[in-house]
Amino acid sequence: MTYSYIIKHPVLKTVFKTEDTDMALWGGRFQGETSALFKLFNDSLPVDYRLFEQDVVGSIAWADAIASVGIITAKECTDLKAALNELLVEVGNDPQAIISNGAEDIHSFVEQKLIAKVGDLGKKLHTGRSRNDQVATDLKLWCKKEGAALLARLGTLHAELIALAEREVDAVMPGYTHLQRAQPVTFGHWALAYVEMYERDISRLQDALNRADSCPLGSGALAGTAYPIDRHALAAALNFARPTLNSLDSVSDRDHVVELCSAASISMMHLSRMAEDLIFFNSGEANFISLADEVTSGSSLMPQKKNPDALELIRGKTGRVYGSLMGILTTMKALPLAYNKDMQEDKEGLFDVVDSWAICLDMAALVLSGLKVNRPQALVAAQQGYANATELADYLVAKGMPFREAHHVVGEVVVFAIGEQKPIEDLSVAELQKFANVISDDVYPNLTIEACLEKRDVLGGTAINQVQAVIAAKKA
Ligand code: ARG
Repeated sequence: MTYSYIIKHPVLKTVFKTEDTDMALWGGRFQGETSALFKLFNDSLPVDYRLFEQDVVGSIAWADAIASVGIITAKECTDLKAALNELLVEVGNDPQAIISNGAEDIHSFVEQKLIAKVGDLGKKLHTGRSRNDQVATDLKLWCKKEGAALLARLGTLHAELIALAEREVDAVMPGYTHLQRAQPVTFGHWALAYVEMYERDISRLQDALNRADSCPLGSGALAGTAYPIDRHALAAALNFARPTLNSLDSVSDRDHVVELCSAASISMMHLSRMAEDLIFFNSGEANFISLADEVTSGSSLMPQKKNPDALELIRGKTGRVYGSLMGILTTMKALPLAYNKDMQEDKEGLFDVVDSWAICLDMAALVLSGLKVNRPQALVAAQQGYANATELADYLVAKGMPFREAHHVVGEVVVFAIGEQKPIEDLSVAELQKFANVISDDVYPNLTIEACLEKRDVLGGTAINQVQAVIAAKKA
């Protein structure tokens, strides 16, 4: 039987050298051969090769741990660590070479290479350790490293938005509710809304990383290692804040994967909303902004087109990130303690989530850095759509009319103005007085864009000095 999808598989595409395939870590118990299909199905090296560095670093710490309890001598420990460090350099130079190896997973790969270097000594390293605590440790180390890189990327995007808010602090644009022009705001104020969102994303990710900062190594297969390892020292050697406290939980916990996917999903939701706002602002209909050539593409047919592909891809990739979150939640649902092979499915989605989130953060920052606001067009739009109707109602309130009544009166004014095809401020005092006789000449200064903005001079409001104060505080 042939399997058409096998050709897509990086391992089975390769003709294995027999010494590679004979290296399964669990051969002794078995008399029959495993089928090629099972190997294809079971092997995780094509995915988990990305844990190489963490597997070696974890192995170095484990060598010290077993030396400290006399399982290997100090000399053996030195030799093992030297070989592992050598491997780190060799593979670091050619990481793609890992996946052409026929080993079952990254742990088998590292052990196989170690044995090739130091012979029987290499076979001692796995004493007291299981791939269950090993993979849990590797993956947490990976999450911590990638998480730190993601925090830096979020920081860059945050800085880019603050810079945009500063450049466009007084650029007026319409603010929307229901995608109907509602009240004027500034572009700076719009940018700061996303700053708030990304700050929450940063704190959510930090929070998740703090919880992930416990070391499972020394938990063995599930019941704890049988050697009196100092797990506090081991955790410290691997730069974890603390060791885990229950071996069953240690090998079966994938909360850090779920939490990273969840933090990514929420952040991607924010990125997709920002992308959608900008796609709309960039549309021919709105034309409030223009995007740099470097982040747009053309149409193969229509020569005039300049499409916001970068933003559309951010919006689109949000879907696959959510998909991976659902995937890991569903994989973990109702899994019995402790390790189950289902959990091998944790990595592909996580890696894709982290890659997608990272590139979207970078792309969003690049889009913002080259974004130009078309101020005249945005101002004209802000002046249309009766965005100053609330100001007229507030004016009537100041003249003593209860707000509910003022709201009704202004509604009638707007209907009249629409009929006249005029904005409110172009109606005469005589026309306005038909609706409320308290209206006089002093109404007009209240109806300007400047007045609309200046009146929102409250913490969190769109008044320019408020936005400037927030920018200054964020920068400090
Ligand atoms: N490749 C496995 C995974 O990623 C490693 C752990 C294997 N453990 C086991 N008991 N078979 O989950």
